[in-house]
Amino acid sequence: MEKPVYMVNGSKGGVGKSIFSMAIIHYLGKRDQKVLLIDADTANPDVGKAYGKTIETRYINLDERDGWMDLVNCLAEELDHTVVINTPARSSEGVKLYGALLTESLAEIKRDLVTLWVINSQRDSLQLLKEYMDTVNTGTTHVVRNLYHGPERKFELYNNSKIRTAVEAQGKTLNFPEVADRISDQLHSERLTIQRVIETAPVGNRAEVNRWVKECATIFDEVVA
Ligand SMILES: Nc1ncnc2c1ncn2[C@@H]1O[C@H](COP(=O)(O)OP(=O)(O)OP(=O)(O)O)[C@@H](O)[C@H]1O
Ligand SMILES: [Mg+2]
Repeated sequence: MEKPVYMVNGSKGGVGKSIFSMAIIHYLGKRDQKVLLIDADTANPDVGKAYGKTIETRYINLDERDGWMDLVNCLAEELDHTVVINTPARSSEGVKLYGALLTESLAEIKRDLVTLWVINSQRDSLQLLKEYMDTVNTGTTHVVRNLYHGPERKFELYNNSKIRTAVEAQGKTLNFPEVADRISDQLHSERLTIQRVIETAPVGNRAEVNRWVKECATIFDEVVA
């Protein structure tokens, strides 16, 4: 099998897809993986703006059929890169219409799709997840409870759901830790990479980023081969 493709999704706006994408890019980089970022949030490519100068980056619009063809072509060309796809809010329409283009090509190009579905504590994330798993019935889908939205028990709708059983029959449920606002602000507003924040932050801030990065690593260890 060639290097895997990590699709960070969740379909909803503001659940934490971008910051999660940054965290996994940082993790993979630290493990000497060559990472290709595909920022599919072409209207607001915040991950691309932070990482575009550091790692190979493409901007691909997955609302359009051409975008899905470009995505498959790119995955077929860059076999030595581990791929992280950061998706925009409301990506489910594109997946429904054109997602088969990807799923049908993955076997041919021998790449494994790992979806990381980021949720908050609300119900609509789960309905969208069900639709996603019905459409993209290949690879592995993990659910990421983003603890920025509250402690694990606040995710009771997911915790007690049938969809959780379906997820855990093939993947995992993970907890993504919260980082202090002043750090996430630097990633978002100043367009800094996590590495850059670590290198330039005052000692207290650096301790906080390092704590977060370490906690993130424990969840990525579970899903990254
Ligand atoms: N684990 C976290 N720790 C700290 N802040 C977080 C965390 N998760 C999300 N946030 C904050 O919540 C806001 C939304 O996060 P982010 O931009 O990553 O979401 P998104 O799903 O990519 O949104 P969009 O759909 O608009 O692209 C940001 O200000 C971000 O810093
Ligand atoms: Mg985003």
